[in-house]
Amino acid sequence: TGMFTFDPGFTSTASCESQITYIDGDEGILLYRGYPIEQLAEHGDFLETCYLLLEGKLPTAQEKSDFDYRVTRHTMVHEQLLRFFHGFRRDAHPMSIMVASVGALSAFYHDSTDINDPKQRMIASMRMIAKVPTLAALAYKYHVGQPFVYPQNDLDYTSNFLQMCFAVPCEEYKVNPVLSRALDRIFILHADHEQNASTSTVRLAGSSGANPFACIAAGIACLWGPAHGGANEAALKMLEEIGTVDRIPEFIARAKDKNDPFRLMGFGHRVYKNYDPRAKIMQKTTHEVLNELGIKDDPLLEVAMELERIALSDEYFIEKKLYPNIDFYSGITLKAMGFPTAMFTVLFALARTTGWIAQWKEMIEDPAQKIGRPRQLYTGAPRRDYVNINQR
Ligand code: CMC
Repeated sequence: TGMFTFDPGFTSTASCESQITYIDGDEGILLYRGYPIEQLAEHGDFLETCYLLLEGKLPTAQEKSDFDYRVTRHTMVHEQLLRFFHGFRRDAHPMSIMVASVGALSAFYHDSTDINDPKQRMIASMRMIAKVPTLAALAYKYHVGQPFVYPQNDLDYTSNFLQMCFAVPCEEYKVNPVLSRALDRIFILHADHEQNASTSTVRLAGSSGANPFACIAAGIACLWGPAHGGANEAALKMLEEIGTVDRIPEFIARAKDKNDPFRLMGFGHRVYKNYDPRAKIMQKTTHEVLNELGIKDDPLLEVAMELERIALSDEYFIEKKLYPNIDFYSGITLKAMGFPTAMFTVLFALARTTGWIAQWKEMIEDPAQKIGRPRQLYTGAPRRDYVNINQR
């Protein structure tokens, strides 16, 4: 009925043209600006990926050092913003703190919110890439009840983040370069993924001309859900619940049961109908991190690998083309690094901030840009007359 195409969940609607990220879900291919994710993850660093996503090309050595310097200069957050944190209950989920504190940036940086000025757009972008890790570390420190640690600008982006999370005043802390490199790679894997729910949210929010910091907060809110970024937290909880290899068949049976809402978290993807290329790199990174930390025979890893093996040879999963996605192994890795489960989606948000900004910027710069305004198929009551309250 009606003049509009009905496409719930937008499974067949392109909402924009974009030159940023390419996915071939049948082949399991992911390219940022044409470069394969495998090559970027192996050879580059996260800030290089940020530059690439924002600028459309790999930086020269000079451009890279200028970019790193500019991001580094913006790592502090306004001192008054720190006070916001103390208003939260101790048991607040760090994602709720992120939604609020990134949204609160909009109240502080009025000099970078003229979205029609390319210079201001760039400063707002730098500020977000630089400050989101600081806010994420503050959310972590608040969560565990430790004193806040200020950024240290002679450290690289990811080492600085690890230091802000794990340094404590009472003892010396030195960032482990293997872990820092692994986390940096995890950030690269999460940096962008074309028009997923949170990115579409950022574009839709931004299409009205809204404040850029507020638009990113909207993206964080959307990412939180367990069908999206919240899946890494849900996947680890599921592995813990399964606990031992002998209980896997029970959970596989539940996942296949139409009458049971249970799903294997970290499995399946709207676009990938093949192995998620990010999941492959993530699995390798998991082994590297556990090796470095001397963790042998991690029971969760054992459950994860066996679950993957069984699922990949099960008819239900084969027929529906359900493969492990990026969130399947990331939880084990992040847990081994020392992050509590509640921080997993925050780390996803930190990395995805860059993709959101690149997509927001591309949209603002697109001459065909219009306010996003989907239509609907109305299925409600037909016209009827108002009835006085005492006559109903
Ligand atoms: N376990 C069991 N069955 C599943 C699963 C799963 N994880 N995922 C999909 N299915 C089944 C589903 O029941 C449906 O069966 P049927 O056709 O008989 O009704 C079929 O596969 C298609 O599923 P869908 O929900 O229609 O597919 P979708 O494209 O709307 O959903 C998804 C994609 C990622 C939301 C879904 O696969 C899912 O819920 N996975 C678990 C959560 C998860 O790992 N999310 C992370 C996604 S990757 C990172 C990110 O986006 O943030």
